[in-house]
Amino acid sequence: MTTTMVNPTYPTQINPDLASIDWAHVLHLFQKINWKHRVATEIESAFKLSTHTLFIYHEEVIIAFGRVVGDGRYYAMLADVVVDPDYQGQGLGKYIVTTLNNQLDNYHFVNLSAAPGADDFYKGMGWKKQTTAFIWPQGPKQLRQHCEKD
Ligand SMILES: CC(C)(COP(=O)(O)OP(=O)(O)OC[C@H]1O[C@@H](n2cnc3c(N)ncnc32)[C@H](O)[C@@H]1OP(=O)(O)O)[C@@H](O)C(=O)NCCC(=O)NCCS
Repeated sequence: MTTTMVNPTYPTQINPDLASIDWAHVLHLFQKINWKHRVATEIESAFKLSTHTLFIYHEEVIIAFGRVVGDGRYYAMLADVVVDPDYQGQGLGKYIVTTLNNQLDNYHFVNLSAAPGADDFYKGMGWKKQTTAFIWPQGPKQLRQHCEKD
């Protein structure tokens, strides 16, 4: 179900019709925050396979977004929480995470994989480090950035 709501400053859409999304601009925002390995068509299909999507607009241009990959009941994972650097520091990241998380009351497990440097962003909202999480690193960069030293 699509919901349109207004956060204190900018219009927000939860689960919009994804045909309305400017994926080239979404790719541009990924590149702007230096997540450069994304491909517009693959981003679109990943969002379409997500259970929840959220987009924030300023004058009809996307300035922030986030999504959840879930199975409807047991496991949900927040992903791609991104705020245009020109709009960071205004509470939009916190708003995205809180709003998505509020959709997930029904789930047994809600988790996420923080980007390097974002630990305190999540801790500040009450998220806890998951001591039991494991990752199968998809290359040396993930091994370096996301894994404990053996
Ligand atoms: C991380 C990100 C989403 C934060 O968005 P934002 O809109 O600037 O964050 P907010 O303004 O909502 O900040 C909320 C709080 O977190 C703090 N915060 C924001 N980014 C932080 C960071 N990287 N580390 C620690 N604290 C951070 C803010 O100071 C603020 O604290 P306050 O509530 O005490 O005032 C944004 O910087 C971003 O898109 N970064 C690139 C992508 C990324 O790393 N995504 C998240 C990891 S998956």
